[in-house]
Amino acid sequence: MPALVLLGAQWGDEGKGKATDLLGGSVDYVVRYQGGNNAGHTVVVGDQKYALHLLPSGILSPGCTPVIGNGVVVDPSVLLSELSGLNERGVDTSKLLISGNAHVITPYNVTVDKVTERFLGKRKIGTTGRGIGPTYADKINRVGIRVQDLYDESILTQKVEAALDVKNQMLTKLYNRRAIAVEQVVEELLGYAGKLRPYVADTVLVLNQALEDDKVVLFEGGQGTLLDIDHGTYPFVTSSNPTAGGACTGAGVGPTKISRVIGILKAYTTRVGAGPFPTELFDADGEALRRIGGERGVTTGRDRRCGWFDAVIARYATRVNGLTDFFLTKLDVLTGWEQIPVCVAYEIDGRRVEELPYSQTDFHHAKPVYENLPGWSEDITGAKSFSDLPKNARNYVKALEEMSGAPISAIGVGPGRDETIEINSFL
Ligand code: GDP
Ligand code: IMO
Ligand code: MG
Repeated sequence: MPALVLLGAQWGDEGKGKATDLLGGSVDYVVRYQGGNNAGHTVVVGDQKYALHLLPSGILSPGCTPVIGNGVVVDPSVLLSELSGLNERGVDTSKLLISGNAHVITPYNVTVDKVTERFLGKRKIGTTGRGIGPTYADKINRVGIRVQDLYDESILTQKVEAALDVKNQMLTKLYNRRAIAVEQVVEELLGYAGKLRPYVADTVLVLNQALEDDKVVLFEGGQGTLLDIDHGTYPFVTSSNPTAGGACTGAGVGPTKISRVIGILKAYTTRVGAGPFPTELFDADGEALRRIGGERGVTTGRDRRCGWFDAVIARYATRVNGLTDFFLTKLDVLTGWEQIPVCVAYEIDGRRVEELPYSQTDFHHAKPVYENLPGWSEDITGAKSFSDLPKNARNYVKALEEMSGAPISAIGVGPGRDETIEINSFL
């Protein structure tokens, strides 16, 4: 059985956690392939709500093996506290596997993230402050610390020394901060080594063997397509590749193994942090979407910026990810609007543009061209099949599907596992 990728089609927080959890019961492995604890994935099981940051959402399905791939950046203290939090709630986490090649978010990476943002002032990215960007920067600069380094004190010390060499100059001379002591960092990191040991594995081998044995592997993206370092709204992006190709490099599985790429798509749009957002609303509608949709960040508690659905972005996500399907989420949140505007194109300096402009300047000038679709007032949270939806809700879904370039195979009508309408099976 081939592999599936599930990823965010917008700016994150589309409902990836719920979608992954839903499939978790039917797959053998759920793999995070990029990002770190900048992610906040909410999963609601019965009356229990879980907020996962680093752990794959498959951790809540007993038959499933959760895997943290080599492309992820791991903050050991966050990982251990997330594990113990779940254990206290009776969740068995013993099957977790962590790649020895995953990079470690060190305390100095978190410090650098925070001071850099402060230094940028008005030009800041609005990062989650979790050390994500600086850890990936160290990886690319070849001064990163990997999980396997925690098991060789001498190598670890040399690597921390190399990493801190330049950073301490920067912290003391440029940012007016105190230098960070190598020994203190090494001691802290070594303190995690024993606790992480049982989980560390050659995950590339495990996953490829699993695929050869016909097991089902689901790759769960963090963030979203427009936050991708290559394909997103750079520089207002995260520092990894949430797009489909990231699953291959971030887990060591070849593209020939992936047969399905599911884009999680919110029925409207949200964004956290700075950066362009053509359909953003600053009025009562935006406020209502935030309130009804509960649009507050799971990781940083920041209010999410809210706006209408943007079909230009959805089409772009279909293209750069090779999406085979969409999972449309939060349709229930739109209940009650008489008319629902949907952005079908942009107007840029007097021109109508159908596709996402590659130029940052153009995108900053993009004004949404709206088409109004008729709304519905009936409660749809109990809908179990597509035909249970009111006519206007069905038409809204069909219109989005047509504009977005891939079939909508499932619809979320509430946060719970069972509040989902399945149209085509994903497995
Ligand atoms: P993720 O980061 O993509 O996993 O998404 P988040 O968990 O950050 O945000 C999505 C929020 O929407 C969570 O609070 C989910 O419980 C909730 N959610 C997911 N799907 C639906 C849905 O179909 N309807 C409603 N009302 N809430 C949903
Ligand atoms: P999930 O997985 C929404 C945003 C931050 C900031 C930018 C860079 O829950 O969808 P970073 O700390 O990654 O360097 O911040 O990316 N961001 C997210 N926005 N959902 C997320 O994750 C995000 N992870 C990062 O707000 O704008
Ligand atoms: Mg989230």
